[in-house]
Amino acid sequence: METYPTVAATRTALDAARARGAQTGLVPTMGALHRGHRSLIEAARAECDVVVVSIFVNPLQFGDPDDIERYPRPLEDDLALCADAGVDVVFAPTVPEMYPDWPRPVETTVSVSGVSVAWEGASRPGHFDGVATVVSKLFAIAGPCRAYFGEKDFQQLAVVRRMVRDLSLPVTIVGGPTVREADGLALSSRNVRLSADERRAATVLSRALGAGQAAISEGIRSAAQLRHVMADVVATEPSVALDYAVAVDTDSLLETVALDDPLTTRLLIAAVVGPVRLIDNMPAVPVVSRRESRQLERIG
Ligand code: PAF
Repeated sequence: METYPTVAATRTALDAARARGAQTGLVPTMGALHRGHRSLIEAARAECDVVVVSIFVNPLQFGDPDDIERYPRPLEDDLALCADAGVDVVFAPTVPEMYPDWPRPVETTVSVSGVSVAWEGASRPGHFDGVATVVSKLFAIAGPCRAYFGEKDFQQLAVVRRMVRDLSLPVTIVGGPTVREADGLALSSRNVRLSADERRAATVLSRALGAGQAAISEGIRSAAQLRHVMADVVATEPSVALDYAVAVDTDSLLETVALDDPLTTRLLIAAVVGPVRLIDNMPAVPVVSRRESRQLERIG
């Protein structure tokens, strides 16, 4: 495994691989890698000839200076995980390598309207401009590739897909399923900042989403009622401050008055637990295994 701190060295290595006919798989990360990142790396490993992981805590996407200050940066552990998972190239640049005029404002940025506006976009102004800008830089460095993003950041995935489509970027976006702890908590690099009590309380996010799924399977189609169902579950944990819990269209991320089709609906939730803001999401209809779905077809 090669680790490069510069754009030039990374680009040279990946251009050479492509010239040999290799398919590149890019996994963009901010480090503090966990099993969720590992599953994306494994998907890239299975589908591509050369796997590159970028590790860069991108200052453009943080609004709160405290959040970026405290963001975990265990580089040695991250490199060990990458080596173990069969990564070929790690791109781990410094901030000035990515933004040469830093700390002066970056003059050229990428902004995706529409899918960026609500939910995380409303609660974290500028966040998705920061994500779109750094991801387009990573795509420019990697060149034509497959790029792997977790469904855990569902709105981010929608923003990146839209950017690729609108700018005709030569990148195929692949979404990877959220990896969860046994008690349902979605893996996140921020979970390490939770105390034991906060960590337990944080499971209320996946429980609320599960309650939303159950309500939909019982026939509830009103977006307002679904908000209530999920908010009521979150209210059982007084230490958790709900930001939003909504049912949205998977493409536009808009909340409609009544769900048109549960199969194209996603449940999104965000809440502050102790010192961290956590997000999670689930499909409105739980994904069943192929075997289960064949059984359901037979019963239907
Ligand atoms: O999901 C993340 O870790 C970041 O938002 C990303 C995509 C690496 C951009 O900095």
